[in-house]
Amino acid sequence: MQDTIAALDHIRRTVPEIRDELGIDPIPVRAIRDPEIYEIEKEQLFKKVWLKVATAWELPNPGDYKVKELPVADASILIVRGKDGKIRAHHNVCTHRGNKVVPNKGFETYGRARANVVTCRFHGWVFGTDGPLKSVPMEEAFGHLDKSCLGLREIACDEWEGFVFINFDPNPAQSLKDYLGDFATLFGGYPYHESTTAFRYSTVLKCNWKVAHYAFSEGYHVPTIHAGSLPGFRGIEHSDFKLIGPHASSTIYGAGMEAAPSTQVFAGVLHASDAHKPHAEQLPVHINPTRRDDFQFELPNVFPNLLIHLASGCGYPGLSYFTHQFWPLDHGTTLWEGINYFRPARNAAEYAAQVHVNALHRNAWLEDTATMEDTFTGIMSGAIDDMQLMDQEFLIRHAARTLDSYLAGGTQ
Ligand code: FES
Ligand SMILES: [Fe+2]
Repeated sequence: MQDTIAALDHIRRTVPEIRDELGIDPIPVRAIRDPEIYEIEKEQLFKKVWLKVATAWELPNPGDYKVKELPVADASILIVRGKDGKIRAHHNVCTHRGNKVVPNKGFETYGRARANVVTCRFHGWVFGTDGPLKSVPMEEAFGHLDKSCLGLREIACDEWEGFVFINFDPNPAQSLKDYLGDFATLFGGYPYHESTTAFRYSTVLKCNWKVAHYAFSEGYHVPTIHAGSLPGFRGIEHSDFKLIGPHASSTIYGAGMEAAPSTQVFAGVLHASDAHKPHAEQLPVHINPTRRDDFQFELPNVFPNLLIHLASGCGYPGLSYFTHQFWPLDHGTTLWEGINYFRPARNAAEYAAQVHVNALHRNAWLEDTATMEDTFTGIMSGAIDDMQLMDQEFLIRHAARTLDSYLAGGTQ
């Protein structure tokens, strides 16, 4: 095990090393404030990098699909599991005249393609779930139609540990494996796929996407903004800093998450269960390597817009992991999605306990999201030109620097 841990020593940083590498200067807020930068982000970032859009367990059977609206790439995409079991992504655009092949409502729509085909409701063109154009009503009336060139337009799609990523670039500069790099080693091997009970929250916030992202990227705010939902939380330690190319991570340690009497009751139910009790031993070896008892969760940023927090039941009782994602709708509007994942409950008591923990976490998220619109209004006022960042806010500093390198046309 020691060898395996040492294999990732090059990504670990102490506080002095973080300061040396990322600096301690204030960070300009211009990238948040300037609408022109958002237009560059769309082209140079969101249409170039790998973006998580689904999980494999959302689409368990051949024919299961999800339509996702992504205004940040001016796109509607169809993510579908084919007859061969493979998940693919295509533009949800009919090659006849451009109608949406699968009609949708809201930002995400789920369904099942019958007989592994989808049919455009405008004139009835039929496509296989793997993309090819299968049939065209009155085909002979087109004179000549080369159906072999008229399949759905494919989008690069790949999976890591059951997380489905796409890349809008027709020729991505990196494979998903190369893009994730050591992140895949750091976070690999955790039984994500066993935690299929998902509670999803989302809201549209009047703020730039980075304001929402940055607010969830540090633990400095916990003792103040979460004094309501976590009254017994005793201190917080934000350490084990890691820099992983464009991605970064650190660990939150602390105690007192179960302080409310009601939470203690429900936590007891989950802690008494083999499935839901704290499973520190399941954490990848690089995370909480000394297996400290006060481990709460690991807080990584998968650049540019995904946070995957591994809790393993150690933090919020029974909570296996949770994710945040931040989808820009325009310069000043963001769709935030938070999802809590648990292993399936085996009886009513476990389910009630999960719902309680979920509500506790929802309350904390309400406290988080309450700051975002005010922060954005403050930044847009022009009253400040910089953010002052302390050590525990290094994920923000790192993400801002990585963003700068993409805006300049490079990668990291
Ligand atoms: S636009 Fe789809 S069949 Fe005509
Ligand atoms: Fe928070």
